Amino acid sequence: MAEIVFKINGKEHKVDGKFDPDVTLNEYIRNVAHLRGTKVMCREGGCGACVVTIQAALPPSNEVKTFAVNSCLVSILSCHGWDVTTIEGIGSERTGYHEIQKRLARFNGTQCGYCSPGFVMSMYSLYMSKNKNLTTKEVENSFASNICRCTGYRPIAEAFKSFAIDADKTLLDKVADLEDLHLLKSCTKDCLKNCSINKCTNQKILSKNIDLFKNKFDNSWCIIENLNSQMFMVNSPAYRWVKAYSLADVFKAMQGDKNYKLIAGNTGQGVNQQTDYPSNIIDIFSVYELKEHVLDVNLILGAGISLSELMGIFQDLSTSTDDFKYLKELHDHLDLVAHVPVRNIGTIGGNLMLKHINNEFQSDLFLMFETVGGVVTIAEEVGKNTTMALTEFLKLDMNGKVIVNVILPPLSQCCSLKTYKIMPRAQNSHAIVNAGFLFKFHHNSQLLESATLVYGGISKNFIHAARTETILIGRDPYTNETLQLVLRSLQEEMQPEENPPEPSAEYRKMLSICLYYKAILYLCPEEKINPRFKSGGKVFKRDVSKGSQSFETDESLWPLNQPVTKLEAIVQCAGEAEFSNDIPAMSDEVFGAFVTTDINPGNIISGFDTNQAFNVSGVLGFYTAKDIPGNNSFTPSKIPIMDVDEEILCSGKVMYYGQPAGVIIANREQTAQKAAKLVKILYSSVSSKKPLLTIDSVLESPEMHERMSNNQIIEPTDIGNDVKYVLSGELKLKGQYHHYMELQTCVAIPTEDGLDVYSSCQWLDLTSVAIAECLNLPVNRINVIVRRLGGGYGGKISRSSQIACAAALIAHLERKPCRFVLPLITNMKSIGKRLPLNSKFEVGANGEGVIQYLKTTFHQDHGYSFNENISGRTIAHFYSCYDPRRWKIESNSIITDTASNTFCRSPSSTEGIAMIENIMEYIAYNIGKDPTQVRLINMESENNPFPDMINQLKTDSEYDRRNGEIITFNAQNRWMKRALKLMPMTFEIYYFGNYNSVVSIYHADASVVICHGGIAMGQGLNTKVAQVCAFVLGVPLDKIRIKPSTSLISPNAMVTGASIGSECVAFATKKACEILLERFATIKAKGTYSWEELIAKAYEEGVDLQATYMYSAKDDLKPYNVYAVCALELEVDILTGNHDVRRVDILEDTGRSLSPIIDVGQIEGAFVMGLGYWTSENLVYDQSTGELLTNRTWTYKPPGIKDIPADMRIYFRRNAGNEHGLLQSKATGEPAFCLATIILHAFREAIRSARLEGGYPDQWLDIGIPCTAENVFTAVEHKVEHFVLM
Ligand SMILES: Cc1cc2nc3c(=O)[nH]c(=O)nc-3n(C[C@H](O)[C@H](O)[C@H](O)COP(=O)(O)OP(=O)(O)OC[C@H]3O[C@@H](n4cnc5c(N)ncnc54)[C@H](O)[C@@H]3O)c2cc1C
Ligand code: FES
Ligand code: FES
Repeated sequence: MAEIVFKINGKEHKVDGKFDPDVTLNEYIRNVAHLRGTKVMCREGGCGACVVTIQAALPPSNEVKTFAVNSCLVSILSCHGWDVTTIEGIGSERTGYHEIQKRLARFNGTQCGYCSPGFVMSMYSLYMSKNKNLTTKEVENSFASNICRCTGYRPIAEAFKSFAIDADKTLLDKVADLEDLHLLKSCTKDCLKNCSINKCTNQKILSKNIDLFKNKFDNSWCIIENLNSQMFMVNSPAYRWVKAYSLADVFKAMQGDKNYKLIAGNTGQGVNQQTDYPSNIIDIFSVYELKEHVLDVNLILGAGISLSELMGIFQDLSTSTDDFKYLKELHDHLDLVAHVPVRNIGTIGGNLMLKHINNEFQSDLFLMFETVGGVVTIAEEVGKNTTMALTEFLKLDMNGKVIVNVILPPLSQCCSLKTYKIMPRAQNSHAIVNAGFLFKFHHNSQLLESATLVYGGISKNFIHAARTETILIGRDPYTNETLQLVLRSLQEEMQPEENPPEPSAEYRKMLSICLYYKAILYLCPEEKINPRFKSGGKVFKRDVSKGSQSFETDESLWPLNQPVTKLEAIVQCAGEAEFSNDIPAMSDEVFGAFVTTDINPGNIISGFDTNQAFNVSGVLGFYTAKDIPGNNSFTPSKIPIMDVDEEILCSGKVMYYGQPAGVIIANREQTAQKAAKLVKILYSSVSSKKPLLTIDSVLESPEMHERMSNNQIIEPTDIGNDVKYVLSGELKLKGQYHHYMELQTCVAIPTEDGLDVYSSCQWLDLTSVAIAECLNLPVNRINVIVRRLGGGYGGKISRSSQIACAAALIAHLERKPCRFVLPLITNMKSIGKRLPLNSKFEVGANGEGVIQYLKTTFHQDHGYSFNENISGRTIAHFYSCYDPRRWKIESNSIITDTASNTFCRSPSSTEGIAMIENIMEYIAYNIGKDPTQVRLINMESENNPFPDMINQLKTDSEYDRRNGEIITFNAQNRWMKRALKLMPMTFEIYYFGNYNSVVSIYHADASVVICHGGIAMGQGLNTKVAQVCAFVLGVPLDKIRIKPSTSLISPNAMVTGASIGSECVAFATKKACEILLERFATIKAKGTYSWEELIAKAYEEGVDLQATYMYSAKDDLKPYNVYAVCALELEVDILTGNHDVRRVDILEDTGRSLSPIIDVGQIEGAFVMGLGYWTSENLVYDQSTGELLTNRTWTYKPPGIKDIPADMRIYFRRNAGNEHGLLQSKATGEPAFCLATIILHAFREAIRSARLEGGYPDQWLDIGIPCTAENVFTAVEHKVEHFVLM
């Protein structure tokens, strides 16, 4: 039997029919090759965690190429002849780390580290594929594939841009500053110092960049060449996998078994996930006839050409051939299709077939080819080809047929072409609407011979605006008259269908009209257009981003206050850092998956039909609530904050769509997940009652009273009597998915006396108690172990115990190790999110804006249970920096029919601060005063840091000058508008809970080890703790190691959250160190000893070298305020609703930072996550069932690398300290998130400017939140008559 042969990191692997086609390269790398450095999250090409490098000989030339792929999309059977390199293959502790790994670590480009291997491998592939000739712009443009939720991308971008040939001096200086001295051997230490200001080191770094990649690959190795390209098959009882090399092979293979599927790059998996394969799979990736391109009169493009190759062809021909100059436009459009790893193997034919299979798919290739008049060639047997229009192809029965090529015509100088793709974020998204416009003019005339207007994203069958195309014939498109005629025609012709979760039909309709106008503005000769309108034709094309970080550091305190690299940074960047699911495979392990409810809330489960599931080979068992030996609750009441029991598995009444109701057990993760979908839940009372999904729907329903709990009413203690203005308004905030890169995970392993539980949780105590109660075991039989989390952001505080209980249940009942990882869709559907909030206010203000009274009422949406009430904290944060004595506040909690909501980074503070800042803006707007002044006069006058901080930031950010420039810009541009806003914030930090730390010293070498009850999840907790320990003990930082957190050593530890984990654990560590120092005092009094001598002596004298301390409320850490001011400038494309954040300046009071670089990372990361919340992250539910529809990377869009501020400047407040916090420091994990609310104010300002020009009255705007492209666009209220040329 034939085999698939490939290499991983130089080692040959052979795969036969034992491997099903759904075994991905990722699964193979992790579970068969046992290389756990490569991560996995979305399994659909949307996150980049799984990227690896491939070197392979690619037809038609069989030239050996290097490229990145998403290992989650590639079937292992597709890897024949590939040389796969994983993160372990480029560098490790044993072989020496690779420079990319080192640089990412040293630039602080890793926080939780889950995304880091994927970023490193994307960079590695890019560098190799571009033959080291990378520019900074190319680097920044090439990471649409990779999502990082922690860092805010700036340090990642900088680390990688330092490899570019045009890396600027600042970046190269940074590399020099961060270099190990030994790496620059020929430099003396003095030289190195000087080099940061002269060229010597910089040049060395540039040439070192190149040396680093020399001879990494053995180019002689190439299986394909050795295997003489003969078709072969890999057979299993259920499938046969045919590796085809020619079209003849393909048709022969099709004849063999008509139940077939063609696979080219297999990236279509990322669009429509397929778990069931037909019996005959034909791999056409290497079919040489599909790989060629030929230019005669036309350009013939083989259907097997990858999108990356296609971009190369377009780039070359657009510069070399007049009639194909237009390909530059298509090249630029292709740059917005998917991302580099998908484009590397995704093919033309695959893309067109996705459109064929699902006509709704907004295929960019189809759009482009159809716009320029391309045709497609279809073969039904060798030599029997038919060429047809793409529109005909869509209707063709493709059974037994192959797309052979696409033919693009030359376009003469009489043609003008423009295409657009409008997306919810800057990169890696399918189009909301895409459009292509081609005008063909009569020779030497301004009149049109023909016009092509093609659209995607409108409806299943809509391709051409055919009627409008006809209207244009014989007309000059660049006159107001034609323009109006066309726009009115489009208004009638464009009838988009509602297609949730896609944006509304109304938006897509008006957007498609605007895109025509945009194209006209772009193409119109300068003399025929008002210069103020011209910029409306452009889309945002950002230059490379940049940033600066300004902080003080006191060297006398080092390692405290020292800007150090995170302790775990290098192992994270090398893929050596262990996450819960990285513990090695065990021979008898099983995998669990939730069966979730698929019906409207309120129905009752009566049973389960598991027949189909058990027909899947490898399924081992199924458990429901009835099998739980103890308490069916993952929120036990013995744990603080947990007021209500939430069921691990639904035992009867369904609370929300997607609620876990059973667990399937199988011998493979994919099998468990597939079988879970096949279990049918039976319901005894089938209710079709519409679920109540929002606060408004509850408040309007008869169930309002039973679903609402009134939490608090705060009465004012003062009232003013100078009321000149009475103003009222509201603010409605939605939820947010945490989007941690490591999904909810737990591995439970039976032990002699109970269970070892590797859980990705933020709370050891909750997890161990919930499992113990669920299994009816004493807590001392459960050992929860957490090395680190791949991001938590609050989503793993309480929700992770549900997954841990399910894994523990299986391990306990089966007596086998159980791995339980929630797939992304289940993770998104079944787990609660940030609490939405609705608020209403009425405020009385005097002529200056001083609040005389304020009444505000808010409601928070808890989902289906009242757990985790944050209303008290919301009120505390609502006060922010203002005097609240005249404020009346009422807070309420609401139950909706959604998953129980939970803490999400800056819970309560985000909402509290957004509410009050909205009110401040509202007052300022309505009384016509400067918003900063209105804010200042409503603050307490004593000990107010803001006048100084605001002035400082205004100076640093050149606020006044830039404001002047913006006024000019807005006057000169009708369709692009800018705004610059400023906002202060006070964020109260308060302490709670118990956090222990155990500091132990080994007598043999005086090295120190710390175990503590906090959870490291990217916030730099371990580094800060080690810095404090080193500072107090007076030892070098590298003497200290931090071990995983366990419930054994930290039995009653409080949740790590609310920004205080690092401080409390560091406090406990400091105290433990002081206990040790006290024990050494008598020895020290007797003489002077080195650290090692001191410890040896103490050991001899029987001194206990281990000390423990637990921080609790009895200790003297007191609440304190973090102060910050932020300025943000953005530009809005008024014709699409897209935006670009041009610059952000943040001045934050970090006290005397324990670890400045880590705190910079916390501020930047929090702010960018906040930008996502306010802009692109939108949760859309099915209104009739309550199912979450934005439940994948395809539909839920956190910010990518090009969504961050183009210029981001962080300043720590100078000369700051903090008498209440730990060692004068302040927390940084959450506050900056709340500053992102400023973008709402900036949008409002920019849109207002556009509306005023449109003749609308000057009125306050309530923009829908989040400020998606749709909500921004809708707020403009476009009218067709506004779209003119002069
Ligand atoms: C994360 C992500 C983002 C994306 N973003 C975009 C985007 O913004 N715009 C866009 O247009 N597309 C986008 N795509 C789609 C992407 O372009 C396609 O996945 C890709 O082009 C498919 O090519 P493939 O070779 O991998 O196809 P495969 O997955 O191998 O095949 C897809 C389908 O086509 C069939 N097929 C393949 N080749 C042929 C052939 N020659 N003849 C007949 N049938 C054939 C297969 O049988 C299969 O049914 C995205 C995809 C991903 C994963
Ligand atoms: S896991 Fe492969 S891209 Fe997300
Ligand atoms: S460091 Fe990138 S996701 Fe955490």
